[in-house]
Amino acid sequence: KIRVKLHSTFDFRKLLTLILVSYFCHSAIGAVVPEYTNASVENAAVACEINPFEGANPTPLLVRSTSFVYPSSVGRRTITLAAGETVDFACPGGRLVLEGVSTTLQVATASCVSGVRFVVNNARYLWRQIQCSVNPVTTARLTGNSCESNGREAEIGFAVTTSRFVRTIQICFNQATQSPIYTYYDLIPAITQQVRGRLDIQRRKSLGQKLLIHQNASFCVDLLIHYVFLFIGTSAGTTRPSWTQGTGIFTLTNVNNLFTQATQRVTINALLGLPTGSFNVIQNNNNYFLSRGHLTATSDFFYAAQQNSTFQFLNALPQWQTFNGFNWDQAET
Ligand SMILES: *[C@@H]1O[C@H](CO)[C@@H](O)[C@H](O)[C@H]1NC(C)=O
Ligand SMILES: *[C@@H]1O[C@H](CO)[C@@H](O)[C@H](O)[C@H]1NC(C)=O
Ligand SMILES: *[C@@H]1O[C@H](CO)[C@@H](O)[C@H](O)[C@H]1NC(C)=O
Repeated sequence: KIRVKLHSTFDFRKLLTLILVSYFCHSAIGAVVPEYTNASVENAAVACEINPFEGANPTPLLVRSTSFVYPSSVGRRTITLAAGETVDFACPGGRLVLEGVSTTLQVATASCVSGVRFVVNNARYLWRQIQCSVNPVTTARLTGNSCESNGREAEIGFAVTTSRFVRTIQICFNQATQSPIYTYYDLIPAITQQVRGRLDIQRRKSLGQKLLIHQNASFCVDLLIHYVFLFIGTSAGTTRPSWTQGTGIFTLTNVNNLFTQATQRVTINALLGLPTGSFNVIQNNNNYFLSRGHLTATSDFFYAAQQNSTFQFLNALPQWQTFNGFNWDQAET
């Protein structure tokens, strides 16, 4: 992936784009302003409707049993529940915070009352009053099972309790080569509704053509928000976490160090019999080196916490940056 660089300096083209998008969106926005305080949806059985991207920060994970809870239909970004239906709010690695007060709970079952109101821990709270003490903490671990080619099965996800793991990615890890053989994960339709990052902006830019034809209001609002963020030089969720290797999986002590350009140069030059400091293969620029190539793409997940969980070395292989950042980036997007 290309590192996102957003400049905070004044950019006339961005301002112009913002004005243009505002202009084209104007009529549509007036018609439909997203209303999440009421279950204004087609299904009469729906009592609660929440936008998971508009919760308090850090936002709890929405889970049931060992699965994530996603929007119920394609094209929807919100989560809907019937009256009395439950969802678990989970804070792996942290504590649930209700109306600013920390609890001793890492996970709690919430029951839908109506709109954005839930009963949690025997009291009523609004969705925006429910948060975690820290961002959900990712866990990478071996499962104890084996997989093809004498591989060891591993998984990345969230330890909701000591006995309850909500997985994002399953990996078959080759202990001998210290690298993943494959990764496996569920690709869900809700990813078209992500609100995040540069890839998302790119995707929305191309959809922007359709926008001018359909005047799709909710899409229009999203696009506008993205351009506002672009203009002011920041975008929620564009920060990439640093890569981590977990504990007890790799026998290599520092995988990240092996991926640095300086170490790659030494390694590859030694393999090819080039002088140690040669820039012939691993060049001194941002194109000709081996990047930390994601096997499972960040943009293939819906929630920010899931996306962050892809930055595990269990999910990475060396990939030429010229390919990763350009051809593959386009194919993946
Ligand atoms: C909001 O919900 C109430 C019932 O809870 C209903 O009477 C009202 O019509 C709803 N408003 C909209 C805009 O759907
Ligand atoms: C908005 O656009 C999306 C994607 O093109 C589409 O699925 C959805 O039905 C549209 N909504 C409305 C209200 O037209
Ligand atoms: C994802 O990682 C980035 C960078 O560390 C951080 O700013 C962001 O808050 C994280 N989001 C979640 C939901 O963990």
